[in-house]
Amino acid sequence: MKGGADATSRTVDERSLTGVIEVGAVWLTAPMATVILRPWAPEHLPLLLAADTADMTRFLGGSEGEDAVLRRHQNYLRSRDGGQEWMFAIEADGEGAGGIGFWTTEHDGEAAYEVGWNVLPAWQGRGIAREALSIVVDILRSDVPPLPRAYAYPSVDNAPSNALCRSAGFADHGERDFPFRGTVLRTRVWALELHPA
Ligand SMILES: CC(C)(COP(=O)(O)OP(=O)(O)OC[C@H]1O[C@@H](n2cnc3c(N)ncnc32)[C@H](O)[C@@H]1OP(=O)(O)O)[C@@H](O)C(=O)NCCC(=O)NCCS
Repeated sequence: MKGGADATSRTVDERSLTGVIEVGAVWLTAPMATVILRPWAPEHLPLLLAADTADMTRFLGGSEGEDAVLRRHQNYLRSRDGGQEWMFAIEADGEGAGGIGFWTTEHDGEAAYEVGWNVLPAWQGRGIAREALSIVVDILRSDVPPLPRAYAYPSVDNAPSNALCRSAGFADHGERDFPFRGTVLRTRVWALELHPA
């Protein structure tokens, strides 16, 4: 795994050293952050709590509440290096910026990886999710038991997540209802070939 046993990182390339953020009619350039993925650890709980706001969960059926978040945190701590379920805190310029990870699922009868992510509002729009997902795709292709495909199921209304899937090379497989945290989301199915024949 890139970056040693406890972290994986990649420095953004020259072409993407600055992001552009639109603020009203003013365009500001914002330096792109260096993104590192840290295997989920006890000190990452605040990231999960910060991701459980109404705004952050508006495409995910709403806030889960603290008890569910604590259970999720315990599950994340059990995910592990080289296993089929692995969660990471996203660190941007040394600060906690969100979370990303993967686990196994079954898609139309075939075992596959499913990928999920969040980036906290203060860090959004700077390419951090794109960079974090690119690192995770590398891990899925080379550091874990191989499965043919990875899937993501963002809500059809979740524009940033759908854009993220597209730019990461996932293929659009249309819409389907997806049971999620006690509700049913209308999602877009995105599939990435991990090990093309
Ligand atoms: C989805 C999320 C992780 C994106 O994080 P981010 O770091 O802001 O994303 P990036 O800056 O890397 O941008 C990823 C893509 O989304 C696009 N994007 C970002 N914000 C957008 C917006 N508001 N509307 C449309 N597209 C947007 C970017 O242009 C980029 O596409 P590109 O590569 O084609 O240019 C973040 O919005 C989030 O955490 N949302 C709440 C939680 C959530 O919905 N999780 C996903 C569940 S499936």
